[in-house]
Amino acid sequence: MIVMLEPDSPESVVNAVLQLASQYEGVTPRAHVVQGAESTITELYLLGSTSQVPLEPFQQLPGVRQVVRVSQKYRIIGRHGGQRTTAGFEYNGVSFGDNSVNLFAGLCAVDSLESVDAMMAALARCGINTTRMGAYKPRTNPYEFQGLGAKCLPWVFDSAGKHGIKVVAMEVTHPRHIDEINDALKKSGAPTGVMLQVGTRNAQNFELLKQIGQQHAFPVLFKRGMGITLEESLNACEYVASEGNPKIVFCLRGVKTHLGDPHRNMVDFAHVPVVRRLTRMPVCVDPSHAIGRAEAPPDGLPDIFHAIGQGLIAGASMVLVDFHPTPEKALCDGPQALRLEQLGALQRYTNIVRAAYTEAVS
Ligand code: E4P
Ligand code: PEP
Repeated sequence: MIVMLEPDSPESVVNAVLQLASQYEGVTPRAHVVQGAESTITELYLLGSTSQVPLEPFQQLPGVRQVVRVSQKYRIIGRHGGQRTTAGFEYNGVSFGDNSVNLFAGLCAVDSLESVDAMMAALARCGINTTRMGAYKPRTNPYEFQGLGAKCLPWVFDSAGKHGIKVVAMEVTHPRHIDEINDALKKSGAPTGVMLQVGTRNAQNFELLKQIGQQHAFPVLFKRGMGITLEESLNACEYVASEGNPKIVFCLRGVKTHLGDPHRNMVDFAHVPVVRRLTRMPVCVDPSHAIGRAEAPPDGLPDIFHAIGQGLIAGASMVLVDFHPTPEKALCDGPQALRLEQLGALQRYTNIVRAAYTEAVS
């Protein structure tokens, strides 16, 4: 059950709902507050045995806009009657939601301080304040480069601070990585935030999902499982949200098929509107891992650009994309990395498609 309050409701309204909820046994209330640019929306989720809890007493409380009973499925991340399109959120000065597109261009795997600094400097030149940086790499082959781990975190955060980068998306593959990131951020003192990335290979690592859900310091970028159904991936997000962290962006990154695709994976960006219809999570697309190669036809733009176009025109509001100063020397996923000189063109392309999307849906 969800009790939706009027925008900017005072604490007294929240307390009245909590007080009423406490009268019903087995009901655990959980507040979800969305800090928007113009107002703050509070929704109180009543979890547990709510089937016998009547709606009317809640509906009659002053300041309550609407009360909805939700189905078992996607209780927190789901889009239930009357709710706004996305439950976007603001983090470290960056808005995640319907109103903007965030370009997270960066290194798939950090290999040196020079690469990190060159990447961040290129972003700063374009006025971009978000990036991706891989420290902990989940590799298919145990003998391949596994990432520099905690050792490279000071490079990332110091350089981010120096170049005004506000949010770094970073994959964690073990709960201890969250502590390592927290420690490194504190030591660096940079005013930079981190978005914890759950990779496709960990999409059903339920213990990791629970740990990520229990921490409130960082929002989450969840990447769809490449070999499981969309429903299974959405349920995985519900794990994170049900543990207490609903600040999740859902990322499509292609799926595996047995068809010998010309791309690394089958691009699944037609699922953007499906995710937006079923849930309220902002949607991200990762064209780099979906396409797997940075090539372009001699007279055209790279396939990666076109995949971004598909995602944005379908309503995605975040793009995760691999770059490298010298892709041929990258230690992981070099073939899909764009060159820093392509960043400006990518930004322009993104703005053009986003403007087309805005016009198309208005
Ligand atoms: C990097 O982003 C991933 O770790 C990478 O795509 C893993 O793929 P691979 O280990 O199969 O090369
Ligand atoms: C990544 O983005 O670095 C990554 C490993 O992607 P995925 O989990 O989608 O393979």
